Amino acid sequence: MSARSILLTRFNLGGLELPNRMVMAPLTRCRAGNGGVPSAINAKYYSQRATAGLIISEATSVSPRGNCFPNIPGLYTRDQEAGWRLVTEAVHAAGGRIFAQLWHGGRVSHSDFQPDGGPPLGASAVAARVQVLTNEGPKSSQTPRALGLSEIAEVVSEYRAAGLVARAAGFDGVEIHAANGYLPDQFLRDGSNHRTDAYGGSPAGRARFVLELAESLVGDWGAERVGVRISPSGTYNDMSDSDPFATYDYVVREFERLRLAYIHVMRASESDRRHGGAIVPLARFRPLFSRAIIANQDFDKESGEAAIAAGEADLIAFGRPFLANPDLPKRFELDALLNTPDPSTFYGGAEKGYIDYPTLDEVRTA
Ligand SMILES: Cc1cc2nc3c(=O)[nH]c(=O)nc-3n(C[C@H](O)[C@H](O)[C@H](O)COP(=O)(O)O)c2cc1C
Repeated sequence: MSARSILLTRFNLGGLELPNRMVMAPLTRCRAGNGGVPSAINAKYYSQRATAGLIISEATSVSPRGNCFPNIPGLYTRDQEAGWRLVTEAVHAAGGRIFAQLWHGGRVSHSDFQPDGGPPLGASAVAARVQVLTNEGPKSSQTPRALGLSEIAEVVSEYRAAGLVARAAGFDGVEIHAANGYLPDQFLRDGSNHRTDAYGGSPAGRARFVLELAESLVGDWGAERVGVRISPSGTYNDMSDSDPFATYDYVVREFERLRLAYIHVMRASESDRRHGGAIVPLARFRPLFSRAIIANQDFDKESGEAAIAAGEADLIAFGRPFLANPDLPKRFELDALLNTPDPSTFYGGAEKGYIDYPTLDEVRTA
């Protein structure tokens, strides 16, 4: 018998007892019902994965203007709250825990999604050179309208309100999605933030927006139930920063000051490396942040164990492995083979590629 994997050992996350250190990474699946309302199929999908130490929900829009993909869920209507309650109750009944990932697309939304048909909103009027997936298929992204100061305050209140809906829906906590080129990330990095007011310029100015979001959510939830996801080396959604070390050293120290439950750090992907931006190593953050560090991106069992053993992370988030293997912790425990994810069913559709990935027991009896 080999020693028990560190990934399968307990972890206390801000008072929440996790039975293992395997986090299900947030995964947009574009299968919410009309009006961004989760339903029974979504509850089934998440409850199938309830043996994760912690589930982080798919990115969920905080407001109609934040929408940036078709058929994504929201957290701004009573129907959405009721839909999410189905999900959280199913996950809890299966013994799991789930945080809501709070999302605003900012400049990578599209006028098709905007209630007034106007341009999407951004930190600055700087377009991302990307394709946006709309209800009519991919379209070129548009130049956003820079948020005015009073509008920034409105967006902060939208996050706070979404956090309250998440709490009413039974989530165990919230994660601010400040990675992958969405609105908080657009403020954070100088490739997309050209503002000359208090929300731009220095790392402190650019970090102000995400820190205001964190403070307002901490006010309602307590710091031990608020986490944040960052992608310091990320180039997805046409992102760049002239000095990511300065930007992320600053903002992570501030997350430490706010005593957030965790930072969820995405390492550089193959695509980030190809784009040639600066690579911020995971190890950078341990001296800056004393609470939990969740690491993500291309981890398997061995590399996840190594990152924890090296002290660079406390928990590992698995995205595609959890998508395709509802019983991933059991498979790691038994060193069993993994199902292969099918990218053709990642975004949109129904049961296929969503709730029909077999468990190990189902594979064996098939
Ligand atoms: C289908 C799909 C949907 C995703 N949706 C989200 C999302 O909603 N929020 C987010 O922060 N990251 C999202 N990601 C990124 C994943 O959380 C994760 O960072 C990525 O899959 C790399 O981890 P992995 O190598 O373990 O799969 C998505 C990735 C995939 C493949």
